[in-house]
Amino acid sequence: MEETNHTWPESNDRVPYWIYTDQANYERELEKIFYGPFWNYVGLECEIPRPGDFKRTQIGDQSIIVVRDQNDEVNVLVNRCAHRGVKICEHDKGSFKEIMCPYHQWTYDLDGKLLGVPFHRGVRGKGGMPDNFSFEANGLDKLRVHVRNGGIFATMSDATPSFEDYLGPRILGYYDRQLDGRVLKLLGHSRQRIGANWKLMLENIKDTHHASLLHVFFVTFGLFRVDNESRVEMDKTGLHTALSSIRGEQELNDGTAQMRSFSSELTLNDPNFLDFSPEFSGDQTVVMQTLWPNVILQQQSNTLATRQIVPQGPNAFELHWTFFGYETDDEEMTIRRLRQANLMGPAGFVSIDDGQILERTQEGILAHPEKRGVVQLGGHETEDTDHMVTEVALRAFYKGYRKVMGL
Ligand SMILES: [Fe+2]
Repeated sequence: MEETNHTWPESNDRVPYWIYTDQANYERELEKIFYGPFWNYVGLECEIPRPGDFKRTQIGDQSIIVVRDQNDEVNVLVNRCAHRGVKICEHDKGSFKEIMCPYHQWTYDLDGKLLGVPFHRGVRGKGGMPDNFSFEANGLDKLRVHVRNGGIFATMSDATPSFEDYLGPRILGYYDRQLDGRVLKLLGHSRQRIGANWKLMLENIKDTHHASLLHVFFVTFGLFRVDNESRVEMDKTGLHTALSSIRGEQELNDGTAQMRSFSSELTLNDPNFLDFSPEFSGDQTVVMQTLWPNVILQQQSNTLATRQIVPQGPNAFELHWTFFGYETDDEEMTIRRLRQANLMGPAGFVSIDDGQILERTQEGILAHPEKRGVVQLGGHETEDTDHMVTEVALRAFYKGYRKVMGL
């Protein structure tokens, strides 16, 4: 691993630009974060409902298979044949009876155990594997897995704490509010590649006040605005955040007057789009959770989704959206969720702004690794707040990041 020459400038409220562009820093992130003592989100159980169902995904740069076995257990396996390193699975999702490498047909069960090696006893008394060849020692690499209320997480480290301790009581409370034990129903996927550093996506969600400035749709229709009643809450590491907010009315006040994106003339041809049906405890119409290191768990009105962040080197990431509801939803609720999903995804009424602005951020900083940004809105503190006119979650995030990265 190449050493980076860079150090952190001074405090958590200044963020150096090299952390978004430096290749050596990215490689350190893979080791310390994605392959380190943290729970990576890898999918939802409703994506692989039946035994044999699998999805392929990524942790850091490593290709991963998430598969349900015959005992209904979810296994997370590294997509690399134990024989010659071949990437075995080439489909994003599907169903296995067993897992066979196309090169020399080494075959594994759905738990990653090696079942068969062609010619292992030789042919006509010639060749074959040595007598002491161990099938047990030559399975697929298997990760620690934790499934909670339909969400699947995996870690490569033995040092990762229990999932409950990892999130801490408050963030776990928000997690359980949305993934409350009801069986989830898969509504669909979308994917996009964004030419920006992966951390900028987490920041985008932790940065509460941009929503009132960048997103014409949110501001105009009151879905998420600085003048809404809100909270910003972190776990003790600062790495996980929950932002919650209660929707306001479409009216002008001293907050909205400062928002150039507020437009009282805009109307919707289909007002059904804003039709919100309360379904969770509390009055919050928006709860956006960033669960370190790689997922956003979203409730915006009745559209629910996970957004998995898949880094692609320092200068790009993929965002894998999975929209879901609950098996108990009636048809009207499913239609409502799907209608509101138009806010989100690569071309969503709101999210399209984020994809573009993150790329412009990367373009702006790419040639200036020695410069640094300012995150001082709301002061210098890293404590929870009861409003969103603040960059507190970014400061808390970088406090945690520095600790993880040894910066
Ligand atoms: Fe945004």
